[in-house]
Amino acid sequence: MRYETPSLTRWNARAYDSSFGYVSAQGVPLVELLDPQPGERVLDLGCGTGVLTAEIAKRGASVLGIDGSTAMIETAIAQYPGLDFTIGYGDDFTVAQPYDAVFSNAALHWMSRDPDAVISCVRMALRPGGRFVAELGGAGNCATLTSAMRTAWREHGLREPELPWYFPTPAEYALRLEKGGFTVRILEYVDRPTPLDECPGGAADWVRMFAGSLLDGVPPALVEPLLRRVNELAAPALRRESGWVADYVRLRFAAVRR
Ligand SMILES: C[S@@+](CC[C@H](N)C(=O)[O-])C[C@H]1O[C@@H](n2cnc3c(N)ncnc32)[C@H](O)[C@@H]1O
Repeated sequence: MRYETPSLTRWNARAYDSSFGYVSAQGVPLVELLDPQPGERVLDLGCGTGVLTAEIAKRGASVLGIDGSTAMIETAIAQYPGLDFTIGYGDDFTVAQPYDAVFSNAALHWMSRDPDAVISCVRMALRPGGRFVAELGGAGNCATLTSAMRTAWREHGLREPELPWYFPTPAEYALRLEKGGFTVRILEYVDRPTPLDECPGGAADWVRMFAGSLLDGVPPALVEPLLRRVNELAAPALRRESGWVADYVRLRFAAVRR
């Protein structure tokens, strides 16, 4: 089944790679945690432009990247013509043959509609003993950024934005994994302040890339003042002499299908 949600249709793949390439770059240690072996079958869920899919393929694994965004998949295919990519949805995908591992970086928190359905699809895609290795935003992720957004929206007489993400606590997500048929081997919950080196517009650039759909309902004349206000509110906590830093909090885990 195909569906369109702002979390899938709004991606600007070129800007993602040029200004927000840190997302994939910071996923390289997650590839180490996955430790793909030559010949293994790995599925990269929410693969985006395919940077980490390619990193996994470099280790000799056979990888399929799936993502719900047509723009991301088209860019991935253009960048890595030798690799396999397809459009697919985290809470509604099936595979013909089971995989040895499912990998996912910075994507599960976007699959917020039904997190249990995502875990169930991953389980069905794995052989027994197969691993699920992923990183997603955890509870408190981007709290300063989102609080600045809520305040700015309110101050401009707008209804508070409904944020599209699912940022679970470690306990909550571990329980979902256990109930979903996985044994959790490693679960880390870490603050990861992240420099927005390629975002001269600071928090406003971040909002445009990751929460652009929330600007759809904003009268055009209000967009710039609103984003300026987000920057003013977020600056005391997030602007350093060296530049802007996003207040990321991550959940990283490795689980095994029972
Ligand atoms: C921040 S990007 C991460 C991309 C890549 N994993 C990386 O590390 O650069 C999040 C990705 O999740 C994808 N995504 C969001 N919701 C999805 C869903 N329900 N099903 C499949 N992909 C989804 C988006 O299209 C986007 O490419």
